[in-house]
Amino acid sequence: MRVLIKGARLLDPTLNLDMTGDLLVEEGHIKAISRKIETSEAVELISGEGLYVFPGIVDIHVHLREPGEEWKEDIESGTRAALHGGITRVACMPNTKPPNDRPEVTTYILEQAREKAWVKVYPIACITKGQEGKELTEFGRLKRAGACGVSDDGKWVSDSSIMKRALLYAKQLDLPVISHCEDHSLSRGGQINEGILSAKLGLRGVSFSSETIAVVRDLLLAKETKAPLHLAHLSVKENIPFLRWAKEEGIPFSAETCPHYFTFTEKEVDGYNTSAKVNPPLRTDEDVIAIKEALKEGLIEVIASDHAPHSPLEKDIEFELASFGMIGLEFLLPLSFNLVREGLLTPLTLLSYLITNPSKVLRIEPPMLKEGSLAEFVLFDPEEEWEVTEEKIQSKSKNTPLLGRRLKGKVKGVFLGNKRYLF
Ligand code: DOR
Repeated sequence: MRVLIKGARLLDPTLNLDMTGDLLVEEGHIKAISRKIETSEAVELISGEGLYVFPGIVDIHVHLREPGEEWKEDIESGTRAALHGGITRVACMPNTKPPNDRPEVTTYILEQAREKAWVKVYPIACITKGQEGKELTEFGRLKRAGACGVSDDGKWVSDSSIMKRALLYAKQLDLPVISHCEDHSLSRGGQINEGILSAKLGLRGVSFSSETIAVVRDLLLAKETKAPLHLAHLSVKENIPFLRWAKEEGIPFSAETCPHYFTFTEKEVDGYNTSAKVNPPLRTDEDVIAIKEALKEGLIEVIASDHAPHSPLEKDIEFELASFGMIGLEFLLPLSFNLVREGLLTPLTLLSYLITNPSKVLRIEPPMLKEGSLAEFVLFDPEEEWEVTEEKIQSKSKNTPLLGRRLKGKVKGVFLGNKRYLF
């Protein structure tokens, strides 16, 4: 296969590349990148006019639900959704059934991925056995089995001494510790953001403090242990001064948010809309503005989907019984590019939040637009508009408040080694 993409905007945040030019792919590898490539040999031409071409997105916060909840998603369907979203690498969270708290589960996930995944899968293992917050898992054995990080995502490790030991243990193995920041003693029973709306709807609220208390404790432990901490899915404005302080202190941390925290507010749940029920909950206009400012300032430098599929069995029920979470793989790029449209981030900075920085968290080399490297890149039309419908969604689950809405920005194709997908 020889394909020449002509006249695209070529973007690579890791190489600081932003130019209009041509890209030649041969035998699954990037053969040449330059302003103009002329070739006399037979080649298939793709017009890159109006298209952005950049390396595959690295989404470090994804629930693939396999093993154990395959009616919601599995490795095949979840990675197919990722592919359609321009994501070529996904890190999958360990709150499966059974949880990924032992090497056999990590191995199982990797075996399944080898058989049926459309993109690369990086398993994240549990910090504590059964995610119960009591006893550490065996990080060394989990890493040897292929785990790329540890997290009790869905739950916070509330016992500080256990979290401290986790950080020390992970540091020795150079594994990131990904923290779900939520002090459950404050959030227990909470359904949506705490405020006027929660009072109006008669639902128990989740305060900002339940998140920020957890953020601050974890930052302090990272300061003390000098261990690599990653703060997942941040949602409230009160975190921001602490993140700034942690940067000034040189604490080894990274912070992540998700498109829903800079796109939606709590208003989405008005009317008891379970598709907008997510943990942490959607917050206020002020929080959305603050999260965007934190992205602009570089305090939050990772954007991940927190793709959390649930079926109608878990969502089309009474609000208080419904599961937390929304799907996100196929909306990550269009929603994130709104930050560029709003003038908050340049395309390269945004892409560094989606490719370079998440790769750093996982300690992997990011995909790059580099001559000689394996083809792993996306064709993206930033202007194309499309309507979100159940039929278009590749994920098995359709739990998103975006159904029926129009998005701007469409993944048109993905090149992955010898394979090429055009949508
Ligand atoms: O909304 C959420 N859903 N937040 C989490 O932390 C877990 C996730 C899930 O697994 O469904």
